[in-house]
Amino acid sequence: METVPLLEELAGEIRGCPKCRLAETRTCAVPGEGSASARIMFVGEGPGEKEDLSGRPFVGAAGQFLNLLLQEAGIERRDVFITNIVKCRPPQNRVPLLDEVAACNDYLMAQIAIIQPKFICPLGGPSLNTLLGPHLRITKVRCQVFRKSGILYIPLFHPAAALHRQELQSTLRADILKLKELIHREIREDEIIDLSPRAKPTRECAPSTVSQKSASEVASDNLSLF
Ligand code: URA
Ligand code: SF4
Repeated sequence: METVPLLEELAGEIRGCPKCRLAETRTCAVPGEGSASARIMFVGEGPGEKEDLSGRPFVGAAGQFLNLLLQEAGIERRDVFITNIVKCRPPQNRVPLLDEVAACNDYLMAQIAIIQPKFICPLGGPSLNTLLGPHLRITKVRCQVFRKSGILYIPLFHPAAALHRQELQSTLRADILKLKELIHREIREDEIIDLSPRAKPTRECAPSTVSQKSASEVASDNLSLF
C-alpha cells in the first residue's frame, strides 16, 4: 500500500483512539502532519491547547518558534513530518505519564515504519527518553548523532523550553543550523553513537499464520519502545 493512505488510515485510528485516559479530555487527537516521504521527522512531547483545538501539531507559540528556526535554516516544514510521543493533549500540558506514552507508542512506531525517515529529531527530554532510552539527558546529548535500527537520531531542545528559557534559544538555533548541515552530507562513523542492539542470530521461523491486524499493529511489529 502507498504511504499516504497508510498514514491516513493510521490517523483515522488515532482520532478515534480510546487506549488511554487522555482520550477522555481531548478535543481533537493530533496524529501529526507533513510529508509521507520525509527524510526528517520531528517528535515532540504532546499536543498543547492550540493543537488540541485544531488537531494539528506545533501550531501554538512553540510551533511558531520552531517554524522560524526551520525557515532560518532553510528547512521547509512541508518537507518534514512532525508528530508527538502522545497524540492527545495531557490536561494542563503536564508531562505525559509513562503508561500514556506506552499506550500511544504503537502509533509513533507505525509512523516511523511507514515514513522510514533517515533522521529523527526527538524534541526535549520526554521524547528523547521514549525514543532512545531513559538514561539519556537532553542537556548532555543535544545535537549528537545516535544510530538505532538504521535510523539516525539527533535530539534537540524542545522549542517550548527555549521559549521559556532565553539562554536555550541560541543553542537551539545553532543546533538546527547544524542539523541542516548534517542532513546534507555523509556523516562519518566516528560522529555516530551506535545504540543498535547487537545482531541476533537468525532462528528457524515457524510458518506464519495470516491474521487481521490494524495498520498500527502491522507497522509496529518489528519495532519496540526502547
Ligand atoms: N509542544 C509539543 O510537544 N507538541 C506540540 O504539538 C505542540 C507543543
Ligand atoms: Fe490513544 Fe495516544 Fe490519545 Fe492515548 S494519547 S488516547 S493512546 S491516541
